[in-house]
Amino acid sequence: MKKRASRLPLFEVRHSRIHGYGVFAARRIRKGTTVIEYLGERVSHDEADARYDDKDPNDNHTFLFTVDSKTVIDGGVGGNEARYINHGCDPNCTSTAEKKRIYVEAIRTIQPGEELAYDYQIERDADDPHNVDEIFACRCGAAKCRGSMLVARRKAGKAAGKKVSKRAGKKAGKTVRKAAKKARPAASERPRAEAGRRGP
Ligand SMILES: C[S@@+](CC[C@H](N)C(=O)[O-])C[C@H]1O[C@@H](n2cnc3c(N)ncnc32)[C@H](O)[C@@H]1O
Ligand SMILES: [Zn+2]
Repeated sequence: MKKRASRLPLFEVRHSRIHGYGVFAARRIRKGTTVIEYLGERVSHDEADARYDDKDPNDNHTFLFTVDSKTVIDGGVGGNEARYINHGCDPNCTSTAEKKRIYVEAIRTIQPGEELAYDYQIERDADDPHNVDEIFACRCGAAKCRGSMLVARRKAGKAAGKKVSKRAGKKAGKTVRKAAKKARPAASERPRAEAGRRGP
């Protein structure tokens, strides 16, 4: 018997123009569909830092996704296709946290062949290197591309600052995580908010 279209896989992994591998819709994905859960080994922030300790600081590549101040998912260990979803500045998906699990959801209807993307919203740190924007340069190709996988820089002025912090709070635990930095203080010395703000 012929398989119904709805039973075909939702997506496929193949080379992407953005970076390395990407995830592409294999059939139409309706707005609001939960596309996939971000799976992998659940580790502490210290363990995630240790895993990337020897990495070239100019290499931005990670499979880490922050769940909260205690937990990071390492998609590189026991992960699934979700780890290949690239960042987009005008994305068709978003990541959501539910009961400490991370899901990727379509925020508009996605046509077959379209690459899936969500905004990594990688947070900025006080001890970022001067070339952090270069390291995390975005190649999503969107007309609205902000040029960086990092969250937008805060604008000077009270209102702008307030807006940014509100947004960061809402998105906490929903973003891709930077790899460890050698000069990074121990997690216990870091502000709590910082630990829960990064995503893959
Ligand atoms: C979770 S992986 C995504 C899959 C990745 N393309 C691969 O083949 O392993 C995240 C990494 O992909 C790269 N990446 C994802 N989106 C990007 C973008 N818009 N621009 C540049 N690099 C991107 C970065 O190196 C990032 O750390
Ligand atoms: Zn972009």
